[in-house]
Amino acid sequence: MLCQRDHSSRLQALISLLVAVEGALAAFIPPHASAVSYQEAEKNTYDFIVAGGGIAGLTVADRLTEDPSVNVLVIEAGPFDQREDSVLIPGAYPPFQYFNGLESMPQKGLNNRSVDTICAKVVGGGSVVNAMVYLRGDKADYDDWGKLGNPGWSWDSIFPYFLKASPQKNFTKPDSGFATQANISWDDSVRGTSGPLRYSYPDYFYPGSANWWNAAKSIGLPVVKDPEAGNNLGIFWIPSVLDATTMTRSDARINHYERVKALRPNYHILASTTVSKILFNRTRAIGVKYLPSAGGSSANVYATKEVILATGGIHTPQVLQLSGIGPRALLDKLGIAIVQDLPGVGQNLQDQSTLTIGWNFTQNVTPNAGSLDSNATYNAEQRALYDTDRTGAYTIVRSLSTNIGQLSLQLVTSNYSAIAAEARSRDPAASLPSDGDPTVLKGYKKQRELLIRQFEGQDAAVGTLHWGTSSSSLIYHLKPLSRGTVNINSTDPLASPVLDYRTATDPVDLAVYVALFRKNRELFAAPDMASLGPVEASPFGAQLQTDEEIIAVLRQHINPSNAHQCCTAAMLPQDLGGVVDSEWKVHGIQGLRVADISYWPFQTSGTPSATMYASGEKLADIIKRDYNLTSL
Ligand SMILES: Cc1cc2nc3c(=O)[nH]c(=O)nc-3n(C[C@H](O)[C@H](O)[C@H](O)COP(=O)(O)OP(=O)(O)OC[C@H]3O[C@@H](n4cnc5c(N)ncnc54)[C@H](O)[C@@H]3O)c2cc1C
Ligand SMILES: *[C@@H]1O[C@H](CO)[C@@H](O)[C@H](O)[C@H]1NC(C)=O
Ligand SMILES: *[C@@H]1O[C@H](CO)[C@@H](O)[C@H](O)[C@H]1NC(C)=O
Ligand SMILES: *[C@@H]1O[C@H](CO)[C@@H](O)[C@H](O)[C@H]1NC(C)=O
Ligand SMILES: *[C@@H]1O[C@H](CO)[C@@H](O)[C@H](O)[C@H]1NC(C)=O
Ligand SMILES: *[C@@H]1O[C@H](CO)[C@@H](O)[C@H](O)[C@H]1NC(C)=O
Ligand SMILES: *[C@@H]1O[C@H](CO)[C@@H](O)[C@H](O)[C@H]1NC(C)=O
Ligand SMILES: *[C@@H]1O[C@H](CO)[C@@H](O)[C@H](O)[C@H]1NC(C)=O
Ligand SMILES: *[C@@H]1O[C@H](CO)[C@@H](O)[C@H](O)[C@H]1NC(C)=O
Ligand SMILES: *[C@@H]1O[C@H](CO)[C@@H](O)[C@H](O)[C@H]1NC(C)=O
Repeated sequence: MLCQRDHSSRLQALISLLVAVEGALAAFIPPHASAVSYQEAEKNTYDFIVAGGGIAGLTVADRLTEDPSVNVLVIEAGPFDQREDSVLIPGAYPPFQYFNGLESMPQKGLNNRSVDTICAKVVGGGSVVNAMVYLRGDKADYDDWGKLGNPGWSWDSIFPYFLKASPQKNFTKPDSGFATQANISWDDSVRGTSGPLRYSYPDYFYPGSANWWNAAKSIGLPVVKDPEAGNNLGIFWIPSVLDATTMTRSDARINHYERVKALRPNYHILASTTVSKILFNRTRAIGVKYLPSAGGSSANVYATKEVILATGGIHTPQVLQLSGIGPRALLDKLGIAIVQDLPGVGQNLQDQSTLTIGWNFTQNVTPNAGSLDSNATYNAEQRALYDTDRTGAYTIVRSLSTNIGQLSLQLVTSNYSAIAAEARSRDPAASLPSDGDPTVLKGYKKQRELLIRQFEGQDAAVGTLHWGTSSSSLIYHLKPLSRGTVNINSTDPLASPVLDYRTATDPVDLAVYVALFRKNRELFAAPDMASLGPVEASPFGAQLQTDEEIIAVLRQHINPSNAHQCCTAAMLPQDLGGVVDSEWKVHGIQGLRVADISYWPFQTSGTPSATMYASGEKLADIIKRDYNLTSL
């Protein structure tokens, strides 16, 4: 995906204007939740300060402010979006203007390429810019997180929070005739009861999706009744965070801010503002320092109860390190006073890397996802259909189709046990940076053993296959063994940290990729796809036969990131290189938790947002218990 740094200057000007207007109205507490100004935030004291207004941040802020006696301030680096079509309408995706560009270090596993990657920078975070895929992890993922030394973590303990976050009432069922024709299935008992997030399915599919579905079945991939039930192995329709009443995106800004805004004078958001560091009294977090994201002077704001860090998988390790929590050698080098030496901060970086395979077809069926770009008549017809009836191709996220396959290693290759054996025979230390801390290595060894068991079992996906119905298919690598790093190289809070994904530095990851590549080939060679005349486009093609030939092209073409960066402040015991405990508290620090995807020990077999909504709910309940807060 293309990447554009920061937002347009027009938007910046608008934001400055809004900030100025709000500044003039400062110094009174409005009767409703509000976007507060820089000056106003500084004058108030809050019970909780949430740094980062993404999925986790807004979920927690919403739930804590259910108690009217509690004041919460959310500080978000990005602006409020302008409810553009590219945000709200799936077929008008993506909203590049809220992407934050992050160039990686040269990737030594990928021929030393530096790759442009992204994360979100907007109120609502990833939920405003993501591809709307809502997919929980598999049961084994959360059970394994528990086995790493996190009491209270299992599928059974997070499951009620999936239900709380994602309601059946607002999971809008597709029309039953359409569902039957389209092969959409679900299980009511796992779809939730009362939460604010809405999700559903597009009401249209491209005809080629049936070819892909039937081909996938013919090579032995099972049909999954409901991928949200804890075992998503097989093929299914992609659940999408669509509000079916409007066929628009249901994001965290809507479902955890706009929804409650009128009733919550105690819920403030300070947008376009960057948290530069956490303030401490010895080892107790007491507030944060912040500055305009566009640059300017800093101010402090204080929290009487807790600071909750929710700045995402890249920026949470950055803020921790800037605040003096991180690997001692790194902080010493930059002259940052140590509050707590935690070698795990910024280690254990994982993403779900992707491979795009181009195809030429001699007789593909139309219309397909490419028709929106190649056929102006079709595009105009579909947009008109959406504008009048909220139906058609614009209900599908642009460039995606409607179905997907999640594969365990056993479903990918009969050679799965040899790959697992190879993984077990290798020295785990070789998969980490050579200058790492022994505790981090110890924690990684435990993770690795659990992941290898997933490779041998039939309860967790290692890869995803998708065909958008036109000129490209996608492979997502869900469970890497390679581990990267995020480290600051500057004390400037507005500078990007140094990102080294270290993708494919563990050769086992490439063995899994090769197997996924061959499986995708098998799918495209099955009669239902072969009838479309697919030809792999250069640099792929029939000339690639041996593992070595395929690996050479993989190193040149894998994209290290699917914007699912995680695990850089991992929930693990401190002697396993952990940063937070099983209730998200930073080891050795009081009054500070990490709520965002940084806390994950390793990637799930789903897409991140489903787990982030649920864990935000779980965390809010734990904080409410700790402070005797009331719920609605
Ligand atoms: C383009 C794209 C496509 C994606 N597609 C999907 C998908 O289809 N399905 C899916 O489930 N997931 C998808 N994801 C991933 C998913 O959205 C994220 O993993 C998820 O949002 C993480 O939630 P979070 O709460 O941890 O952090 P985020 O939602 O990323 O929120 C973190 C917030 O903190 C803010 N911030 C950062 N630094 C600071 C600072 N110093 N001070 C103040 N604020 C700060 C950021 O601006 C951001 O808004 C996608 C992500 C992107 C970017
Ligand atoms: C990548 O860079 C390293 C260090 O500079 C070098 O040793 C290696 O040969 C390079 N690899 C490739 C494929 O160019
Ligand atoms: C579910 O959606 C309806 C509108 O479609 C809304 O009125 C209702 O409040 C939502 N329920 C919850 C619990 O958010
Ligand atoms: C749905 O499944 C039926 C039966 O397997 C198949 O004939 C049809 O082509 C499929 N359609 C889609 C859209 O997947
Ligand atoms: C720091 O904490 C101590 C002990 O709780 C307290 O007595 C002191 O007043 C605090 N100092 C500041 C500046 O808040
Ligand atoms: C373009 O779309 C129109 C409207 O759907 C359709 O009638 C026409 O056949 C399409 N043209 C091509 C070349 O596919
Ligand atoms: C099976 O996997 C092992 C380990 O990756 C590899 O060495 C071997 O070549 C593979 N065999 C086949 C037939 O793919
Ligand atoms: C880190 O900072 C130093 C000094 O500013 C600079 O020379 C170096 O290139 C930076 N490294 C990276 C990876 O950005
Ligand atoms: C695929 O199509 C592109 C553009 O139409 C063309 O340049 C390329 O040579 C084709 N590749 C194959 C393998 O047919
Ligand atoms: C919460 O209530 C319990 C029981 O009444 C009490 O022991 C505890 O001190 C209270 N905690 C806080 C933070 O007020």
